[in-house]
Amino acid sequence: MPLLLILLGILPIAASLYRLGDLAITDPSTIADPDVLRFFAAPSSIAMHVAFGSLFLILGAFQVSAGFRRAHRTLHKRMGYLAALSAVVFSLSGVWIVFTYAPHSLANPWIDVGRVFFGTAITAFILLGIWAAISKDLKAHRAWMIRGYALAASSGIQSYLIAIVTVINGAFDPEIADSMIWLGWVIGILAAERIIVGKRGDGLRPTTSSYRQ
Ligand code: HEM
Repeated sequence: MPLLLILLGILPIAASLYRLGDLAITDPSTIADPDVLRFFAAPSSIAMHVAFGSLFLILGAFQVSAGFRRAHRTLHKRMGYLAALSAVVFSLSGVWIVFTYAPHSLANPWIDVGRVFFGTAITAFILLGIWAAISKDLKAHRAWMIRGYALAASSGIQSYLIAIVTVINGAFDPEIADSMIWLGWVIGILAAERIIVGKRGDGLRPTTSSYRQ
């Protein structure tokens, strides 16, 4: 289960590693693309966004896995603090980028609306999940954390959707890509709600033992 979720996130994680490497080693005076130069003008926000986004996709894959929780209850709690911190940092830095960076040359205001809405929602869901855990309401804890993780994992769904339609189309189309970004968020939300009500037998369904922590 964690492996499948990590595979789902592999494209945004790979793009993140590329961006971090580029920021670390490329001399900005050699860059002609203004969309890329924006990142070098204020590297810390995008670096935090991609580093903590990748960390959350990896840690979260283990955190939402019932098998991992059952086998490593103490580790689940310890990793949970780091995963929650990663989620808050990556989602709020994503929102921060929307308001503080020069817009991308292909920017679509509806994508920015989605980023602000879902970025804020991820932080809210994770904080609600932490509160539920402190209150020992493990059913609510599970539901909020699945919602937060599913919205983050939507970045993987979006990347796969864009890759597939680009191959089918034979060329990258920014308008279709924008639709795929919204479709990815919708799929993420629907998948989360379906998993929460337990209609999928994918290991995320709660078991009595997994909640005796
Ligand atoms: C709802 C959640 C998210 C929000 C609000 C968000 C926000 C943003 C924003 C505003 C940008 C800059 C777009 C631009 O102007 O070029 C961006 C780019 C990016 N984000 Fe996110 N993002 C989210 C989820 C994620 C996740 C989970 C990852 C996982 C690693 C991720 C990785 C990236 C990468 C790799 C880039 C591209 C950097 C580049 O162009 O090289 N994002 N994101």
